[in-house]
Amino acid sequence: MSAPLRDTPAWKALELHHAEIGSMHLRELFAEDPQRGSRMTAAGAGLRLDYSKHRATQETLRLLIELARERGLEARREAMFTGAPINTTESRSVLHVALRAPAGESIVVDGSDVVPAVHEVLDRMGAFADRVRSGDWKGHTGKPIRNVINVGIGGSDLGPVMAYEALRSYSQRDLEFRFVSNVDGTDFAEATRDLDPAETLFIIASKTFTTQETMTNAASAREWVLAAMPDEAAIARHFVAVSTAADEVSAFGVDLDNMFGFWDWVGGRYSMDSAIGLSTMIAVGPDRFRELLGGFHAMDVHFRTAALEQNMPVLMGLLAVWYSDFFDAQTVAVLPYDQYLKRFPAYLQQLTMESNGKHVTLDGTRVDYETGAVYWGEPGTNGQHSFYQLLHQGTRLIPCDFIGFLHSLNPLGRHHDLLMANVFAQTEALAFGKRLDEVRAEGSRAELAPHRVFEGNRPSSTLLAERLTPATLGSLVALYEHSVFTQGVIWDINSFDQWGVELGKVLAKRIAAELESDDEPDLKHDSSTNALIHLYRRGHL
Ligand code: F6P
Repeated sequence: MSAPLRDTPAWKALELHHAEIGSMHLRELFAEDPQRGSRMTAAGAGLRLDYSKHRATQETLRLLIELARERGLEARREAMFTGAPINTTESRSVLHVALRAPAGESIVVDGSDVVPAVHEVLDRMGAFADRVRSGDWKGHTGKPIRNVINVGIGGSDLGPVMAYEALRSYSQRDLEFRFVSNVDGTDFAEATRDLDPAETLFIIASKTFTTQETMTNAASAREWVLAAMPDEAAIARHFVAVSTAADEVSAFGVDLDNMFGFWDWVGGRYSMDSAIGLSTMIAVGPDRFRELLGGFHAMDVHFRTAALEQNMPVLMGLLAVWYSDFFDAQTVAVLPYDQYLKRFPAYLQQLTMESNGKHVTLDGTRVDYETGAVYWGEPGTNGQHSFYQLLHQGTRLIPCDFIGFLHSLNPLGRHHDLLMANVFAQTEALAFGKRLDEVRAEGSRAELAPHRVFEGNRPSSTLLAERLTPATLGSLVALYEHSVFTQGVIWDINSFDQWGVELGKVLAKRIAAELESDDEPDLKHDSSTNALIHLYRRGHL
């Protein structure tokens, strides 16, 4: 990277530009340019992005794209797609795009083409998923599988649970899917309470197969199965593993014939379309899973080939930088107007925050600008009756991503019209608000009038697709993946490592030993942590 970010000509130009237009109101921007609502849109891979309700002009976009060029976005994008080791702190390629590359494409890493191996695993997953779905895969006592429990955490949980919920309408309804992630025993206990072990299949999903939470839950699952069927041979019928670590899988006792692999060039939070998606495939079937991959791939092609000016992930990524660094926005609200996407914000939290929550550049220098924002959200319209008050009248600037579909998967009376009316109404209200004179003209009591003012000028994107399908879900996830990548390139950070999770893991291991030791431990923490540990050991307040 040539110059530090804030010294680049494009950044300096953006600072000047922000001083000029930063306080302009969306009312003015729309009044100046009546075509804005149709012009500031982009489309591809089954999605349409309206970014006209952003505090940006054509000049803003020109400068942001100039910034992307100065930061080498196009070359970095190509480096990712061609398998260069861009995850420099772990010396790894970053090739989630290979997971959805069509058979016949070629992506070479360390001298070998990874695409055939991807399809080989997909085929094995497909054969296995079909056997479970058809009842051909029997449990140890000969009963067919009725319950599938994915045991994993982080990327080995959030993608599977999000995709299962999102695609529930395409799922085989006589199979029950559950997801156990938390080391809190309540998660396991409640997920298994009403299930028959003889009809239950566990998918132990862990890239490393060493993650404390997952291994603890997997061990409890093993005990639960063996308590009901006290025969080691039951393990092979009730456990499959998804991992990159065959030796750890064997050591746990899962037959390698029942292991579905992936590779170190797939980051955990970028893995829902790898074998980590096995539960998704069992739920919706191999054909639908391939449609999901098709949607991912369509967005990959869009990201790789569309002009930057029309490139949805690039535009979304650049606007995220614009708000983080020029408007001091701290958070982004993700507001899907589709109940099936209820876990999408949680999924995005790991994707965005584990990727771009970084404080040093690739060469280890402390950044002197803000990096990744806090992502959060809830499905609409529920959020409207809880936190939207702050979006509309609070003092913070919170850019919002509204996500909606033209057609419902469950058409029911007026429901969908009302749902979508709320999407459009919210973006309009946030952008344009209601002035004091308008409030007064409505005859509001004078003392109430200020309370009824909406300042407006609150930015949002509106993302639309025709309907929620496996393909549109894939496109949507890939859109955010590449937006995250774009932001990381601008900030010159590594979006693909996660060193920030290490310290807590190491300390928890040490403290677990202290909590469990028979002898009074010689605690060497700070006085607060020491006191908390003593209190826990004592068992009462
Ligand atoms: O602790 C963070 C993390 O490493 C995530 O990046 C990852 O998705 C999660 O833990 C689970 O890891 P694994 O799949 O190896 O169990």
